[in-house]
Amino acid sequence: MQNFVITGGKRLSGEIELQGCKNSTLPIMAAAILVNGKCSLESCPNLTDVYSAARILNHLGCKCSIVGNRGEIDASAITGSEIPERLMREMRSSIMFMGAILGRMGECTFSIPGGCELGPRPIDMHLAALAKMGAEIQDTGGRICCRMPKGRSHGARLSLSFPSVGATENIILCAVLAEGETVINNAAREPEICDMCRFLRSCGAKIKGDGESCIMVEGVEKLHGCEYRIMPDRIAGATYLSMTAAAGGELILKNACIAEMEPFVSILEQTGCFICAADNRIYLRRGGRLKAVKNRIRTMPHPGFPTDAQAVLMAALATAEGTSVFEENIFDCRYRHTDALIKMGADIQVMGKAAVIRGVRRLHGADIEATDLRGGAAMAVAALAAEGTTRIGSISHIDRGYEKFEDVITSLGGSIRRE
Ligand code: EPU
Repeated sequence: MQNFVITGGKRLSGEIELQGCKNSTLPIMAAAILVNGKCSLESCPNLTDVYSAARILNHLGCKCSIVGNRGEIDASAITGSEIPERLMREMRSSIMFMGAILGRMGECTFSIPGGCELGPRPIDMHLAALAKMGAEIQDTGGRICCRMPKGRSHGARLSLSFPSVGATENIILCAVLAEGETVINNAAREPEICDMCRFLRSCGAKIKGDGESCIMVEGVEKLHGCEYRIMPDRIAGATYLSMTAAAGGELILKNACIAEMEPFVSILEQTGCFICAADNRIYLRRGGRLKAVKNRIRTMPHPGFPTDAQAVLMAALATAEGTSVFEENIFDCRYRHTDALIKMGADIQVMGKAAVIRGVRRLHGADIEATDLRGGAAMAVAALAAEGTTRIGSISHIDRGYEKFEDVITSLGGSIRRE
């Protein structure tokens, strides 16, 4: 088990190129299963979750390699339709592969990854939608077998009770090669879904309405290979902006997706940071002490404030002047990082969905454990602003989503080492 050792109190300064987006790379890798040909992905981030996805693809008989930031996937010779339990367990988003395998092979067997860091993550909406598209589903003691009796799924009109990102992606993946048209009402509008749809359109898929609440997919017979560049990671961007806001200093974020980051940036601006965005760059400067955010920060599906940025912003607001309040509306259990922040001197009270953060003058170093990906990143944000040295354990959580985390922070003048 590795740790990050961070000594805080240094202002950060410099410019960084934003990594490719984890949450679109994973569904795009799954989508490549639908393609009869070679797909080349540029800006593919080097993350443990991406390597787990590559292992699933290779297990299924696809050829997948990642060299530097280029991913090559060729699913022409795919033979398998089963994901073993050990690979399902490596990564919760392995569930993304279900719709694609079913769409290409007409059947798919997998297991549900168990309870997770963020609370229960059921897949009832995914399965109900696939059943409406023709799948017969059998649950045999943890292993789930989905099968299209006619070998191919058919289009359907679907209405989601909540705009789930994963369910929307799985339905699109299953619909692309289906017979007929699929309509998804109350679809999720996250930019990562649009990125996956742009990739699929580059391969010949017929999809309309992504980024809106009603998505239409017209099934096609076959997809062809393509070259595609993954969009930048808006949550990594939010993390490095929060870090600079917390520690003080200035940052230029290059390769930033300005429109997609707006729901986060518009809240961060209320802390008194100077922020300027133009030409795919975001500049942030923090001089004096941060100010608390006056209105309740409610996490909501896109274009609301992203749940994935809740923890990192909270870490920055821990030393702001005044009281900020978060309301977590997406996951039941997404405040597990607060215990570590409290150990570092933060004044945080969690009451159900709400967390009240009373800003303190300073945080201090502590020995803490990362609880989940974004929670772990939030601990690093707090550690860079704190006095003294913090040791963060269980950093495999952080490696799931941040490429060269310590190199990026070191390049900005922060003191961090892996040991
Ligand atoms: N839900 C159900 N039933 C379902 C599906 C979802 O009840 O069938 C519930 C979930 O339990 C949760 C809520 O709906 O309470 C939202 O879940 P959603 O399906 O939208 O999330 P996801 O697809 O599991 C993706 C990201 C998460 C991100 C969420 C919300 C990937 C690989 N994961 O998860 O990212 O927080 O959307 O935006 O894209 C992260 O990167 O750290 C991360 C957790």
